[in-house]
Amino acid sequence: MSRDKSSRRTDAGQQAVDVSEAQIAVHWPEEGYFSPSASFIAQANLTDADVFERFSLDRFPECFKEFADLLDWYKYWDTTFDASNPPFWRWFVGGRINACYNCVDRHLANYRNKTAIHFVPESEDEAVQHITYQELHVRVNEFAALLRDFCGLKAGDRVTLHMPMVAELPITMLACARLGVIHSQVFSGFSGAACADRILDSESRLLITMDGYWRSGKLIDHKEKADIAFAEAASKGHTAEKVLVWQRYPGRYSSPTKLVEGRDVIVNDVLRSFRGSRVEPVQMPSEAPLFLMYSSGTTGRPKGCQHSTGGYLAYVAWTSKNIQDIHPGDVYWCMADIGWITGHSYIVYGPLAVAASTVVYEGVPVYPDAGRPWRIAEDLGVNIFHTSPTAIRALRRSGPDEPAKYHYHFKHMTTVGEPIEPEVWKWYHQSVGKGEAVIVDTWWQTETGGFLCSTVPALHPMKPGSAGPGIPGIHPVIYDDDGNELASGSGKAGNICIRNPWPGAFQTIWKAPDRYVKTYYARYCRDPQSKDWRDWPYMAGDGALEAADGYFRILGRIDDVINVAGHRLGTKEIESAALLVPDVAEAAVVPVADEIKGKVPELYVSLKPGVEPTPEIAHKVSEAVVARIGAIARPHQVIIVPDMPKTRSGKIMRRVLAAISSHQDPGDVSTLANPEIVDSIRELNR
Ligand code: WT7
Repeated sequence: MSRDKSSRRTDAGQQAVDVSEAQIAVHWPEEGYFSPSASFIAQANLTDADVFERFSLDRFPECFKEFADLLDWYKYWDTTFDASNPPFWRWFVGGRINACYNCVDRHLANYRNKTAIHFVPESEDEAVQHITYQELHVRVNEFAALLRDFCGLKAGDRVTLHMPMVAELPITMLACARLGVIHSQVFSGFSGAACADRILDSESRLLITMDGYWRSGKLIDHKEKADIAFAEAASKGHTAEKVLVWQRYPGRYSSPTKLVEGRDVIVNDVLRSFRGSRVEPVQMPSEAPLFLMYSSGTTGRPKGCQHSTGGYLAYVAWTSKNIQDIHPGDVYWCMADIGWITGHSYIVYGPLAVAASTVVYEGVPVYPDAGRPWRIAEDLGVNIFHTSPTAIRALRRSGPDEPAKYHYHFKHMTTVGEPIEPEVWKWYHQSVGKGEAVIVDTWWQTETGGFLCSTVPALHPMKPGSAGPGIPGIHPVIYDDDGNELASGSGKAGNICIRNPWPGAFQTIWKAPDRYVKTYYARYCRDPQSKDWRDWPYMAGDGALEAADGYFRILGRIDDVINVAGHRLGTKEIESAALLVPDVAEAAVVPVADEIKGKVPELYVSLKPGVEPTPEIAHKVSEAVVARIGAIARPHQVIIVPDMPKTRSGKIMRRVLAAISSHQDPGDVSTLANPEIVDSIRELNR
């Protein structure tokens, strides 16, 4: 369970110590610039430097018409932006649109026989599936017919998807979108219990899953999680009507877990009776929710971020075209999981809205070896690549010389999800990008729908370790803790906010509008009565600084959220999972630096009186976290302590634990109720 401690970064540059990621962030020196190549610029979609003028704050909100005009509307909107009920902004109001139509049907005229989705199974012995736009249209229609006519779904219903990285996942999402059904895809690596919480919160009518999928050479039994999810949601008060099970191999059931009579339905069997069915796309209001994406926050309950149809799709289409530089002729591979917002926006909706060929890869990047991604890129002719610093670090460690062995050429690469160390950036640029590819370091969040900060690839030079300025139409600002604006370019750290609303922003937290206002807008709102959007900056929850050149460097979360491998985990969620073990009295989790994953959770627990600490208890705690949340949350180590460092009022001082975990000086501990505990905890975590 505990890994070699030497793999941890303990840069001398780290000094501040606190529970927030931002305060334990690495402060890199400023780097020099790298320029995009002339050949990239020559073909780029966005080369017009006037774009920033076009999207200046005084052109808000009409400037965003340019985003919506990338889409086909059944009915053009009458109000670009409605601010009558801050901060519940509404975009392209009065418009009618269908997201599936925009990602599939409208491309048939020009791109019928072009590949929409390349599905790459993990096993190299299994053939890649090249699904054309025509075939995608057929499969989406047939499945939409099944959802409508066999399951009785209608616009506004919710369904929970717990699907792996297979072509059937975008097909399912698009079929929902065709009907106006709100999908909520749960990352397949999450546990059945985590899936249950999301079924319950969204009151989903169906759970849609797959029998199994391949991961690191093993056919995982995925269906077993559906049984847990269904049962747990039912026991907590919401019973889904059916469980739809896709077969990884159509015609063959690949899971050892039994089907439940009357509840479970094999999709591939029922689909036969829908052969040839076509379903008219439902003309949805622009403001109708397209999907929910659950994300972690400061409380134990994940938040269902509700994304709109028109605004969201316009935003991901525009950024796919202009920041990802996707042209219809490009083969684009975002090596993220569709279970996260990155996959929704930049594997499915964005790339398909602009008629790209998008790659869906089932397995792990380093399976069977670190050359795998580069073989895929070579075989499919991928020319745009998108991944996370965690994946880049893993590929660099296990195969630094692999990229040079393959004849692929990337014109463009993205990094997303966490800060990227300049030396890792340089390997990405030199080795993966062969010195040819332009890189964008895109900063954004589940809530924001699409990119917020990034360089515009043909217009700005790149600077390793910095995301870049706000993209066109996004106007970031940094506030200090007292609500004062830091001067632009000050280089001082503070809380990054966005001055203006934008079409991709989420609409609310599902069933929790107050939490939405409180978490994102209350802190820096200038007047809660104000109907003026200028009084409502969006608070992202990240620490950041703006250098003199206007580039933002993101330092990490300022709240109780840990970013593990580019994904958010709530400290409360992990701690409550630990408390499920009966021997545990208290739990506190802190982030520690990790060479590959950026940050990993480290868990401190104290036991109930009379319980002796044993490695078995530590193991049980770790397993409880995995069962409750998923393997991604597995603690780096579980340390059983005699007591937690506490203030006199009894509050656990995570700051002190974070310092111990990072082998740093915890600072002044004399005000603690139990200062002597610090040394004994340090002894336990040498
Ligand atoms: C948090 C959002 C964005 C989609 C994937 C994660 C961190 C995101 C960057 C970046 C530094 C980044 C922030 C943010 N983050 N991108 N380029 N540089 N940090 O989505 O799970 O909602 O997490 O990821 O801390 O708040 P998410």
